[in-house]
Amino acid sequence: MKEIILFDSVEEAIKMMVHRETKRVKLEGNTYALTRFNNDFYFYEALCPHQQYSLLQDQIGIQPEVICGWHGYRFSLEGGEEFDKRCRNLKVQKLQLNNKSALFIQF
Ligand code: FES
Repeated sequence: MKEIILFDSVEEAIKMMVHRETKRVKLEGNTYALTRFNNDFYFYEALCPHQQYSLLQDQIGIQPEVICGWHGYRFSLEGGEEFDKRCRNLKVQKLQLNNKSALFIQF
């Protein structure tokens, strides 16, 4: 695994995304989703673990969760669990700060 920096600082990330916004991220040929919730940022797979519906246009809830637009499954952004345990977890990482205050993921 390697560290991939997505933002040089929390301030930069906050300027580039609004609360509950989701952006598409292309990384090594695959598409992922990136969401801001308050001042936290989450990187996760772009397809729903249930039946592979895109999570890129879907709703972020009033807590750190993504709600799939097809069947309404709700996935916690703090660990990936589907709230009613109807399918596998969403693969999600919360962005972390490195020793230079950049936000990164392990990839
Ligand atoms: S495809 Fe997402 S809940 Fe069914």
